Amino acid sequence: MGQRIQERASFDNVRYSNCWEDADVLLQALDVREGGVYLSISSAGDNTLSILSGNPSLVIALDISAAQLACLELRMAAFASLSYQEVLHFLGVGDGSGRSATYRVIRSALSRDAREFWDSHPEFIERGILHVGKFERYFRLFRRWALPIIHSRDTVLELIREKDAGARADFYRLRWDTWRWRLIFSIFFSRTVMGRLGRDPEFFAYVEGNVAERIRERAGYALTALPTHDNPYLEYILKGNFENSLPFYLRQENFEAIKRNLCRLILFKGSVDEALQANKGVLFDGFNLSDIFEYMSYEEYVSALERIAASSKMGARLVYWNMLADRKPPDLFKERLAPLGEIAGALFLKDKAFFYKALRVEQVR
Ligand SMILES: C[S@@+](CC[C@H](N)C(=O)[O-])C[C@H]1O[C@@H](n2cnc3c(N)ncnc32)[C@H](O)[C@@H]1O
Repeated sequence: MGQRIQERASFDNVRYSNCWEDADVLLQALDVREGGVYLSISSAGDNTLSILSGNPSLVIALDISAAQLACLELRMAAFASLSYQEVLHFLGVGDGSGRSATYRVIRSALSRDAREFWDSHPEFIERGILHVGKFERYFRLFRRWALPIIHSRDTVLELIREKDAGARADFYRLRWDTWRWRLIFSIFFSRTVMGRLGRDPEFFAYVEGNVAERIRERAGYALTALPTHDNPYLEYILKGNFENSLPFYLRQENFEAIKRNLCRLILFKGSVDEALQANKGVLFDGFNLSDIFEYMSYEEYVSALERIAASSKMGARLVYWNMLADRKPPDLFKERLAPLGEIAGALFLKDKAFFYKALRVEQVR
């Protein structure tokens, strides 16, 4: 394969306009310390902002995609100068218009790159930037075209009505898990369809096995073992917006702390390697690594672990997900990285963003 992911796939546009990794799980896995120093994959910015709520002294947010960093910057500008309700409206929670007028007020806070990006996409601003990623468009296709063939609107709403675990299991078995659900899910979330419409075929370069079946199994778990009425990720997929539940960074109780700590956040365009190179001498307390390792070969993953461990304080935590490819440190890291398997296992069972097959938490010793 040889080439890095940034040479194999395009990153000119917004791929993710939300972070599709459970922020509550991330924060507990990272165990964010007041005054700590963190490195965080930006993606749309949600989970990096969530880390700010723990009062770190520095967070470096990085991404190989300028468009993803523009998503974080625009969220930062919104948090800095709007009220809580205005932030929700500007980002696209609920209906409404007038977002372009708000953009004109806050755009001077953006870097030139981010300003040029958003200036050239007024339609994204007006719609609300929560809804403009390729991945969100994919879920929209699922909701508009696939879901109505599988279940009626009433059945969908019944799925996310509050129930106890027994009632959820019965509902799933008797009403939800039909042959249509299985068939259409296996087409829509297949490697081919997800690769073209949702992610990128290159993101599957290191993935083996039946993608749709694994994700359906995890969905079955999330729809029965976990409450379905307060899961923002599920609600967004099924309704196309957040209505009754919000991801961590958008909950009112976290707003002031995030706003107060925006000055602790700096952005970096480039890979983890490049960010560590550019910040030589900085030792980190934790790393939010999303699932970037499955875009890399196993050898690249191992060298990335080397460099991350070398830039860590004792006790630092590395948090990352495996979605479809297995990434687990080889034995040669035994002395340097301790897997926090119990913590990772317990958190994985609570993971509301249910597409992943494993959460890994490693501690630097
Ligand atoms: C890894 S993706 C994961 C999104 C989602 N979990 C999925 O699997 O479809 C999240 C972000 O990581 C960025 N990214 C991927 N590889 C990276 C790397 N080596 N260094 C920095 N950012 C990276 C992408 O641009 C994207 O915005």
